[in-house]
Amino acid sequence: LGKNIIHKTTLDSTQNTAHDAARENAEHGTIVIADEQTKGKGRMDRFWHSTKHKGIWMSIILRPSILPVAAPQLTLLTATALADAISEETTAAPKIKWPNDIMINNKKTAGILTELQAEQDRIHYVIVGIGINVNHSFSEIPETLQHKATSIKRETETEYPIVPFIQCILQHFEQTYDRYMTEGFSPIRTKWESYGYKIGEKIKIRTNYKVSEAIFRGIAEDGALIAETEEGIQTIYSGEVEWN
Ligand code: BTN
Repeated sequence: LGKNIIHKTTLDSTQNTAHDAARENAEHGTIVIADEQTKGKGRMDRFWHSTKHKGIWMSIILRPSILPVAAPQLTLLTATALADAISEETTAAPKIKWPNDIMINNKKTAGILTELQAEQDRIHYVIVGIGINVNHSFSEIPETLQHKATSIKRETETEYPIVPFIQCILQHFEQTYDRYMTEGFSPIRTKWESYGYKIGEKIKIRTNYKVSEAIFRGIAEDGALIAETEEGIQTIYSGEVEWN
């Protein structure tokens, strides 16, 4: 992992560059990094603010031999690797909000966007996009997001050099990925739950159809969210978790 690094000052989105590289047969473990993105992509087509030198904006090209249905597990394993790296590099206490947000002090600090190129039972490649707000001061966080987004600097009052941070993330990612490939999802699940945000607490789950109240019980062996609702235990595969 990371033998091949494509680094650019400015990209529209590292995801796009990674897709292009993967289509041109870039090898497993190729990394695309930008100092800034002009069209950073978040989940659900949202815009992802990616200010120059303030954060980590990167995409990892993977060619895993797993079934497409298992791909959400890659997002969850990436989240545990990020939480490990943030715990190691900083004094912050990260939590993971299902499925893929890293929270510090109840505010979002990082997100993961997993994109898949697959047909039927075969994955051609996966792009795992990682965005971390590292060194933004309060005023550098867009005003409309200040109530729910933060940076590691803001929460710990310390600046962190970006390059060693990236190295630490790649190290944890590789370790976690290798473990997943040899031991399966089970150890990742335990790790994920140790960082799980709001486990045992009341949450709201927004799906395409409705918003329902539930108690968050943890994640299942396949990465689904386990929710205890009035109608009993439910497993949720896609949706947004809310609270308050
Ligand atoms: C989310 O929480 O909505 C996911 C955010 C993912 C952002 C990263 S930044 C690097 C990579 N390139 C993108 O355009 N998006 C991802």
